[in-house]
Amino acid sequence: MSTILVTGGAGYIGSHCCKALSNAGYIPVTYDNLERGHARAVQWGPLEQGDILDRRRLDEVLRKYRPEAVMHFAGYIAVGESVEKPGLYHKINVEGSRSLLEASVANGINKIIFSSSAAIYGTPDQTPILETHPLNPINPYGKNKLDVERMLHDFEKTSAIWSVSLRYFNAAGADPDGKTGESHNPETHLIPLVLQTAAGKTPNIQVFGKDYDTPDGTCIRDYIHVTDLVDAHILALKSLLQDAKSAIYNLGTGTGYSVLEIIAAARKVTGKEIPMIITNRRPGDAAVLVCNSDRIKSALAWQPKHSDLNTIIDTAWRWHTKQESSAR
Ligand code: UFG
Repeated sequence: MSTILVTGGAGYIGSHCCKALSNAGYIPVTYDNLERGHARAVQWGPLEQGDILDRRRLDEVLRKYRPEAVMHFAGYIAVGESVEKPGLYHKINVEGSRSLLEASVANGINKIIFSSSAAIYGTPDQTPILETHPLNPINPYGKNKLDVERMLHDFEKTSAIWSVSLRYFNAAGADPDGKTGESHNPETHLIPLVLQTAAGKTPNIQVFGKDYDTPDGTCIRDYIHVTDLVDAHILALKSLLQDAKSAIYNLGTGTGYSVLEIIAAARKVTGKEIPMIITNRRPGDAAVLVCNSDRIKSALAWQPKHSDLNTIIDTAWRWHTKQESSAR
């Protein structure tokens, strides 16, 4: 069986990807410093604790397992925090990726799948967003992702590293079998926060602005179930292993939901009232972020299968309630 190194495999998307890798017949080796990830999320292969900036440790783990490819999820993900701490974000997200790439080259590993983001487009000129849309990130997090995509391009030229960059829109939902899910601290994402309100942990959900140029005045996003997201990683990995060729793909469903639609759907799924208050806009939020994923659909025959809104919220709610009952 072939081994894949998964940096950030103890995190939200990384842990779902380890499960998908294992189901597809690979051995996922998680490389994670457990600063923001959770050891309990590592269930489908070994955990090697280490920091992405620790070259010696990376070399040791790469020499030990000789992975066929690397999936790179490790990094910081909070847009607001990136605005407050741009230096830290550059260090972890850009220098960390450089450290991983250099270690990969030094150890003869030349295939990498990279977690990129819709944040690299900035405020879109038009939607749905195609991969050819200009790249104008408006916050350090988005700039970090763009820096790494460019670094991958440069490494391809100099070191024959092949990569697939997957530009995620709004990853959401949890493993349908309830084995893993989203547990960020602090949580900033809409769906888990709405569910925290449904569970009575917070008195209300704040709606950041109701004066956008959208049908109900709230922001529209393209929510993709994490299981569909990781399916795309497996297809990208197989294509990279078969036929070394770099690519960049958007990952979303092409359907957008407003903040109010998310709250309404969550009320239906949970049967709870979910009080909300309208507050000011959150700086840096685009009104509409919806993508066109035709490129990956035609290149890799990827299709979202779990991304209808009810499934997304239902799986997230089941994960949330399971976490609550095991904490009791
Ligand atoms: N929102 C609220 N209230 C909240 C939290 C969020 O109204 O308490 C709104 C936001 O304003 C936004 C929408 O809900 O309109 C979704 O917000 P999230 O924070 O869940 O997600 P974002 O769209 O801001 O961020 C996502 C990814 C980021 C990525 C970004 C790309 O989570 O990693 O898309 O722009 F960078």
